[in-house]
Amino acid sequence: MQIDPRDKRYQDIYRLMVGAVVPRPIAFVSTIDPNGRLNLAPFSYFTAGSSNPPCVVFSPQHRGPEKAAKDTLRNVCDTREFVVNIVSEEFVNQMNATAAEFPPQISEFEISGLTPVPSERVRPPRVKESHVQMECQLVNVITVSDKPGGGSLVIGEVILFHVDEAVLADPEHDIFKIDPDKLRAVGRMGGISYTRTLDRFEIARPKWPS
Ligand SMILES: Cc1cc2nc3c(=O)[nH]c(=O)nc-3n(C[C@H](O)[C@H](O)[C@H](O)COP(=O)(O)O)c2cc1C
Repeated sequence: MQIDPRDKRYQDIYRLMVGAVVPRPIAFVSTIDPNGRLNLAPFSYFTAGSSNPPCVVFSPQHRGPEKAAKDTLRNVCDTREFVVNIVSEEFVNQMNATAAEFPPQISEFEISGLTPVPSERVRPPRVKESHVQMECQLVNVITVSDKPGGGSLVIGEVILFHVDEAVLADPEHDIFKIDPDKLRAVGRMGGISYTRTLDRFEIARPKWPS
């Protein structure tokens, strides 16, 4: 079967995308507006984009021409700073609670009961419950399309990582190796489905010419 997206409803193409591009990690993004109001929202159109310097990319989608940009995008454009917090099973329900379309004056920290803790190098706070938090400075926002369902790519440089030693495989000898069984990160599937990261397998990297 072939599907040409140009003559289909964007809502259906969205369903196709989120069913096919799986599992998606979740950037739980904290921002602050110019008046100091805190905001927190999950984004599963998210990936790492570079390791040197370390960069992450996430994509707030446009709700539609008649509606304002998502608070996260507006805050990132206004302040050029954000924090990406990695989501673990322990607080997945609280993360999900932040995803309703709250007006900007309502802080999703209060709604969810999650705890803001000050960052070191950016103004938006981190989520205390998250085991890996990345303080980011905006590199660029690329507007792919401002049609409904279109999105912007927010590219941020990670200027400081906070890693909970409790999720390291061998904290005494290697501060860079995370144990996925300790982190228990969750991913997003299509619809309202999530996935755990506990069922894994290994394949040795092939070497050329052998
Ligand atoms: C797990 C999860 C992943 C989501 N991923 C995205 C995404 O990648 N892009 C997007 O625009 N919205 C996504 N959403 C919806 C936003 O979180 C939602 O629109 C939120 O209200 C945006 O908040 P804001 O206006 O405070 O930025 C996701 C929701 C959930 C629960």
